[in-house]
Amino acid sequence: MPGKAKERAHRNKTLSVSEAERPMLESQICSLDDLKSNFHDDMVVHGDLLECLDFIPDAYFDLVIIDPPYNLDKDFNGRRFSAMDTEAYEEYLHSWFGKVCDKLKETGSLYMCGDWKCTSAMQRVVEEKLTIVNRITWQREKGRGAKANWKNGMEDIWFAVKNLKRYYFDVDSVMVRRKVMAPYKENGEPKDWEETQQGNFRLTYPSNFWDDISVPFWSMPENTDHPTQKPEKLYAKLVLASSKKGDKVFDPFLGSGTSAVVARKLGRSFCGIEVNREYCLWAIKRLINATSDPIIQGYADGVFWERNSFGFQKRASTAKTHNGSRKK
Ligand SMILES: C[S@@+](CC[C@H](N)C(=O)[O-])C[C@H]1O[C@@H](n2cnc3c(N)ncnc32)[C@H](O)[C@@H]1O
Repeated sequence: MPGKAKERAHRNKTLSVSEAERPMLESQICSLDDLKSNFHDDMVVHGDLLECLDFIPDAYFDLVIIDPPYNLDKDFNGRRFSAMDTEAYEEYLHSWFGKVCDKLKETGSLYMCGDWKCTSAMQRVVEEKLTIVNRITWQREKGRGAKANWKNGMEDIWFAVKNLKRYYFDVDSVMVRRKVMAPYKENGEPKDWEETQQGNFRLTYPSNFWDDISVPFWSMPENTDHPTQKPEKLYAKLVLASSKKGDKVFDPFLGSGTSAVVARKLGRSFCGIEVNREYCLWAIKRLINATSDPIIQGYADGVFWERNSFGFQKRASTAKTHNGSRKK
């Protein structure tokens, strides 16, 4: 008898996979053999990245997003990653980073996520192969409290490119819309802000400090049970700034599929590798859902909205999707 999706509280939108839908989702996961015989765009590959990399073409991707296990004890659905000393962690990064970089086009960009503990090892390893252009600080509110330490409330995202003279960056696609607290007028006209029926707003250039993105939580449809899932809004900024429509995005640690889902919602193709089969299933289900619901929470009408502005977004966007069509 087919099983049921995990029971959730009424308003809990966390994604579940039922036994009944498992075979259909399973059939869309690609294996190492599929990769060997027929590499193509939009693959979710179930496998170990070290075994897969040789079968993915070099200089193929415009954008690589890497969110590896941080140097922490973490249980990824039964597969443990254990904290190690910094030297050993740096060796672990070395074991795959060079090959991952080879997948990037000459004009391509790469982002690597980390926390305070692993970020220095990441910087050293990234710098050996690429030019670092910036370090983004993401202020994530959720973090485990500690009795004898400060709670961790931030993450780093290293931004690096192959060729400093040739990389693509579209700042206009990642502007941030903020409420104006002190609307200043010059000759009776708003100075650098907009008066709308929904309120007064200013479009601001995005800085490398991101305080407008929450971690996915149970009331959001993008949420899964993955322990370290990244928000779609965060990856949307990376994808929009550093790739064009039709470009190719590679994620060697796909997890619950956030990069692939964002790539699909924004009209890019993708390739993702994930060693845990259950996570691959979640990624496939999210990709299917993305086709009928291309909304990215916090991104509407071509701009990013500050946190807790969902009411304004809804009123202002007239429920338009990123492609300009109305959401059903
Ligand atoms: C930090 S999580 C990525 C989360 C992802 N960004 C998301 O939004 O869901 C790292 C992922 O890498 C996977 N992983 C760890 N070692 C791997 C390997 N050798 N090959 C492929 N995937 C691996 C883990 O199972 C885990 O899901």
